[in-house]
Amino acid sequence: MMKLIDCPHDPSKRVVSGMRPTGPLHIGHYFGAIKNWAELQYKMESYFFVADWHALTTDYADTSRLAEYTEEMVTDWIAAGLDPEKATIYLQSHMKELADLHLLLSMITPLGWLERCPTYKEQLQNITGKDLTNYGFLGYPVLMTTDIVITRARWVPVGQDQVPHLEMSREIARRFNSFYGDVLPEPEALLTPMAKCPGLDGRKMSKSYGNGIFLKDSMEELTPKVRSMLTDKARLRKTDPGNPDVCNLYPYHEILTDEATQAEIRSGCLSASLGCVECKQIMLKGLAAFLAPIQERRAAIVAKPGYVREVLTAGSAKAAVEIHKTMDVVRQQMHLDYLK
Ligand code: TRP
Repeated sequence: MMKLIDCPHDPSKRVVSGMRPTGPLHIGHYFGAIKNWAELQYKMESYFFVADWHALTTDYADTSRLAEYTEEMVTDWIAAGLDPEKATIYLQSHMKELADLHLLLSMITPLGWLERCPTYKEQLQNITGKDLTNYGFLGYPVLMTTDIVITRARWVPVGQDQVPHLEMSREIARRFNSFYGDVLPEPEALLTPMAKCPGLDGRKMSKSYGNGIFLKDSMEELTPKVRSMLTDKARLRKTDPGNPDVCNLYPYHEILTDEATQAEIRSGCLSASLGCVECKQIMLKGLAAFLAPIQERRAAIVAKPGYVREVLTAGSAKAAVEIHKTMDVVRQQMHLDYLK
């Protein structure tokens, strides 16, 4: 790692990541991100934020539920194990200097990089019903780069889908440094080992598909959901042998069920001695055991009105101090500190 100008902390001991506020978390969020974040907070200096400005890149027309979604999401973060005493938890839109750096980075980011970004092209095609020919949507990766480099963290825990964005972050950081000196570390993805969490219908679990299992779901909500899950489509009768490797339910046993029981389920399915109905009952039991402590913590948080806002206010104040340190160096190196 190169030596950065006026950097009081060690970037390789710092992680940063964000999530768009989409409301209550589903277990795909948990196993794809939050579980990993909760482990990292004990090993690294951790910065986790609500990417509410990023939510606006596609959902700018109706912002009426942003606050509610933020509250729900951060409630689940903490219920699922993020500790506000360990990690700095903050709100992107509260970091006014982020807008400042975003503008500066927008000056040095070639349009071609943004237009060629695979996630941009994909989403333009896949998201229908919204006009996405707006400036902010094209600039999504510039804002994401800003989030990262402004903390001067080296590591960014994300899923595989964010790798193209991270690559662009590195290129923008490199370009910035080539003009103004070594200010920004080149960030690297800390890939979250992907646990497979298919949605109830077998597609990727997503709130917009309505196929999610949420951390706050009660047993009354979960039971019909699990009953409705697709298993091995080729297994029509209980007496037909099934194949766990093509079943949408089996991956959940790999996450929720102990190994000995997993082996029994596998052989029971293959030999048709275990039916899907019983298999689902085992899954429900596993889910209940997994969710109970999370929901207990959730209830305690909900019982303290204002708690989430306090966490975000305190975390945002802390993050703002770190962000300000970076901006001082940025302005100095760009000769924008004329009036100080
Ligand atoms: N793009 C990320 C996602 O959709 C969210 C995000 C925004 C993010 N800014 C970030 C992730 C900075 C890591 C670092 O998942």
